[in-house]
Amino acid sequence: MYLNKDEEEILHGEYGETRQKMMEVLVALGRVFGADKLIPIVSAQVSGASYKTIGEWGLQWLEGLNAKVVAPTMLNPIGMPRNHWDELGITKKFAERQIAIIEVYRRLGVKIECTCTPYYSHIVRYGDHIAWAESSAVVYANSVIGARTNREGGPSALAAGIIGKTPNYGFHLINNRRPHLVIEFDGKKELIQQPEFFGALGYIAGKLIGNTIPIFLGIKPKRDQLKALGAAMAATGAISLFHIKNITPEAQIFKFDTTGLEQITIESKDITALFKEIEVDAVAIGCPHCSGDELKEIALLIAGKKVKKPLFIFSSHYVLTSNQKVVEQIQNSGAKVISDTCMVVSPFMDQFKSIMVDSGKAMAYVPNMCGAVTRIGTLEECIKVATT
Ligand code: F3S
Repeated sequence: MYLNKDEEEILHGEYGETRQKMMEVLVALGRVFGADKLIPIVSAQVSGASYKTIGEWGLQWLEGLNAKVVAPTMLNPIGMPRNHWDELGITKKFAERQIAIIEVYRRLGVKIECTCTPYYSHIVRYGDHIAWAESSAVVYANSVIGARTNREGGPSALAAGIIGKTPNYGFHLINNRRPHLVIEFDGKKELIQQPEFFGALGYIAGKLIGNTIPIFLGIKPKRDQLKALGAAMAATGAISLFHIKNITPEAQIFKFDTTGLEQITIESKDITALFKEIEVDAVAIGCPHCSGDELKEIALLIAGKKVKKPLFIFSSHYVLTSNQKVVEQIQNSGAKVISDTCMVVSPFMDQFKSIMVDSGKAMAYVPNMCGAVTRIGTLEECIKVATT
C-alpha cells in the first residue's frame, strides 16, 4: 500500500506513539484488504463507548492513548444517560467507569454525542468517504445517503479519526457497491403500509442473505423505515449496504441491471410469524435512536394516555433538545424519554425478563445482550401494550 512521506513518518513514530499505533492499525487493515492507499475522511464515528460492552480492558486501552482526532469524530451510545443516571438504578461503580470512558474520549477530541444516528446532527453527503463503526449508522450512510464507509471496528474508526484517513478498499470503491442478489416481497400490500413491517423484513432478510448486497424490488419505504430495514439487516446478517429500486440514491443513479442475479422472495407469512403475542414486563422504542418524526408519532399515539407498564423511548440528545415540546407531551404519559444510551447497551434494562420492541435490530440483540425474551410489534401495538 502506498504511503506518502507524512504517512511514513507517522508510521515510524515521528508524531508520537499513539499516532504510530493508529497508523499501524490502518496500514494493517489496508494490507489485509488490498487497499492501494489511504484516503481522507469527512468524519469518523466510534463504537465501543458503553462500559457494559467494553469493560475494564477497553477502558484501559483507551486510557493509554494520547493524541487528538483530526477529523470530526462522534461517539456511539454509552451505558447510561449523561444526566439523571441514578434515577434508572445505574450503580455508582458503573457510572464512575462510564464517566471515565467519556472523559478519555473527550480528551481525544471525540464529540460526546452518544448516538447511533449521527446523520441527524452531522451533514454527510452523497459520495463522502467516512469511517463509521455503528452497524446501523454504517448501513444508513452507505445505502440511504450514498456516503462510503466500511463497517469499522471501534479501534479502526478511532484510528481513522486520529489520522484523518482510512484505507481505500471495500465500500470506498464504487465497483464493490453493486448488488449481488434481488429480494422481492411477495405479500400483502397492507403489511407494507405498516411502518414496523420494514424492521421485520430486515430481520428476516438479514438472516437469509448474510453478508452481501441486496437490491429490493417492489417496496417504497420512507426515511425512518429505511433506517429500520437497514439496522435489522445489519444485526441479523452483517449487511452494510443495500439498494432499493428507484428509491435509494445509487439505485437511482446507476439503474443496476438485475438480470441473472440470484432472486429471493419473502412472503407475508415470513413476516407475520415474527409478531407473536407474549406478556411483557416493559416496552422499549428507539433502536436506532428515534428521529424527530418518530417522536411526533409517539406523542400522537400516546396523547391522553398513562403508561401502566414501563415504557422507555431512546433518542439522541440533539434530537430531544430540538423537539422539547414533543418530548414533554410524551413524558406527560409517564413514559421515560432517555438520551445517550439504549435498551441494548445499558445495564438498567437487564432487570426486565421480557421486553416489547418495535425494531428488528432490537429483536435480534435484546435476547443476547439483556437476557430478555423479546416481542416485536408495531409502534401502535407497543404504545397500546404500555398503556393498557
Ligand atoms: Fe442504536 Fe442501541 Fe439500537 S446503539 S441501533 S439503539 S442497539
